[in-house]
Amino acid sequence: MSKIYVFHGVNLHLLGVREPDIYGRTSLEELDKKLTSMGEENGAQVECRQTNHEGEMIDWITSLKPTDFLILNPAAWTHSSYAIFDALKGVQIPTLEVHLSNIHARESFRSNSLITGACLGQISGLGTDSYLLAMAYAIEFQKHRQSEEVNTTETANGSI
Ligand code: DQA
Repeated sequence: MSKIYVFHGVNLHLLGVREPDIYGRTSLEELDKKLTSMGEENGAQVECRQTNHEGEMIDWITSLKPTDFLILNPAAWTHSSYAIFDALKGVQIPTLEVHLSNIHARESFRSNSLITGACLGQISGLGTDSYLLAMAYAIEFQKHRQSEEVNTTETANGSI
């Protein structure tokens, strides 16, 4: 069964208490609940995870199946991790990069993402809506993919 994964990077376990003027007051648990129920209401299986360990994040990324979709907030690794970029390039899983804050309107080091080049795109600056919009896109992407798979199988079986 293909899934939509949501991976949160370093320090995002502090969501809700960490610089709430920048990142908001929603906790990670509340956000993950919203994302999971949005997926379930639309027939998608969702799994959310957070880690403060870059190697663990890379293990998770490189264990995904080609049919999965990834919503990724690489947090501070956005600006430092060639390793996460290489992992995403290596597996070629459709990935959307998300940020709660507008990384292009903050300190200059934040405006450079090393990750976007390995992603379908980036959603930044909309608070938790960045994730919800990414989830809406992921749901449609997976639906489209599944209907394409059905068509290909039916054509191969001669039923079309
Ligand atoms: C962040 C932006 C990053 O620059 C920062 O290091 C984070 C969170 C965001 O969601 O706005 O930890 O990815």
